[in-house]
Amino acid sequence: MDAVQILGQQIKLPFSGKVVPNRFLKSAMTERLCTWDPNNREECGKPTESYINAYKRWGEGQIGVIMLGNIPVHRDYLEAAGNAVIDKNNPWDAVAAFKPVVDVVKAHGSLCIGQLTHAGRQAPDSVCQQPVSASDTKTPDGVMGLNFKPARAMTEDEIWDAIDRWAFGAEVLYKAGADGAQLHAAHGYLLSQFFSPLVNKRTDQWGGSFENRSRIIFEVVKAIRKRVPDESFIVSIKINSHDFIDGGFSQEECASMVERLEAARVDLIELSGGTYESLAFEHKKESTKRREGFFIEFADRIRPHVKKSVLAVTGGFRNAEPMAEAIKQDTCQIVGLARPLCSEPDLPKKILERESKGALDNAVESSLQTPAAVIQIHAMAENRPIPDISKEDVARDVTDMIGGKTAVPHPEGAKYPPM
Ligand SMILES: Cc1cc2nc3c(=O)[nH]c(=O)nc-3n(C[C@H](O)[C@H](O)[C@H](O)COP(=O)(O)O)c2cc1C
Repeated sequence: MDAVQILGQQIKLPFSGKVVPNRFLKSAMTERLCTWDPNNREECGKPTESYINAYKRWGEGQIGVIMLGNIPVHRDYLEAAGNAVIDKNNPWDAVAAFKPVVDVVKAHGSLCIGQLTHAGRQAPDSVCQQPVSASDTKTPDGVMGLNFKPARAMTEDEIWDAIDRWAFGAEVLYKAGADGAQLHAAHGYLLSQFFSPLVNKRTDQWGGSFENRSRIIFEVVKAIRKRVPDESFIVSIKINSHDFIDGGFSQEECASMVERLEAARVDLIELSGGTYESLAFEHKKESTKRREGFFIEFADRIRPHVKKSVLAVTGGFRNAEPMAEAIKQDTCQIVGLARPLCSEPDLPKKILERESKGALDNAVESSLQTPAAVIQIHAMAENRPIPDISKEDVARDVTDMIGGKTAVPHPEGAKYPPM
């Protein structure tokens, strides 16, 4: 089989029985396209036409699994202004609001999974004056131009409330027709704050041993199963292979974690890495460059611990050959893509139809590529031509927008602070 044939193979998820039509996954990406009014939190986070439009483009791209990303389950702890939100206390009908986006994602056969999150201490001060976390800690200021207020430790009641919110979010996705829910437990957000011995200093049943630090994840999975008893609903998770901080979540803990996730019937495990304090969306080692995936060597070591769950690895993949090679070598079964799908939302289609061998280059400086991708998502959402950041002059213009010289416009009128 050649690379295209490998990437075009379908794969069945072991517990839900759902079939992913090929080996591409669009990883969750914050879109910042939903309603936003800092003075009226209840009305924030509603899907807009622009949000649906962006997913219509991805839905046409022959992407096996499309993650809606990142959907906070609590309106007070957003990752950014304009996030989609599913909050059990919001007065509007979330099922009706999210159904149109699920429909456009699934229109051509992709599976649709919604990534449910809670920013915890990584809720920036532009959207949150009193963040919460496992313990009283603070995300260092200045990361990606963001500042953070010190977080307050969550009470036991707040932890159970958060668990219930994830279950509510999953139920909304299920009723809106989505194929599954993904827990965002990577990149230093609340669930990964609980795992991290550096952030979690609790001495109750939610802190201390690894089992205690990871308890919240398994309670969330249990609560989702209870609220959505249909076995065909996919439960997925995105976790770090490594936090890349001394004393953070380690590879050994990740290996033990995936075994326990499989035992909890988690269908699809997506591996990533890094946190706001130690960004990892670039190569840390020369040896991973040839294989493209940033976390591929970690995945090699974690793969033997996963027997049934399907493993995806996200970060760094750009060309069909290394993507197919990762599958052929059985490092992973699915490849996750994020930034390349902002330049070319139909890259998988082009690869599967043998019109392309890989992604366009990205000429934006590595630390600015995430906000550049948001600008591209907004162009997609508005049916404007997507800025071709493989061209040096376009990359320079986009970099100027990000530099705060221009506020990032919201297609439907709201103004966001500079990224
Ligand atoms: C614009 C943008 C937004 C992102 N938002 C999220 C998110 O909401 N949830 C998440 O798990 N990862 C998020 N990520 C990380 C990506 O899903 C992915 O893990 C990372 O970009 C590495 O993949 P890539 O090299 O293919 O871009 C985001 C990345 C980008 C570029």
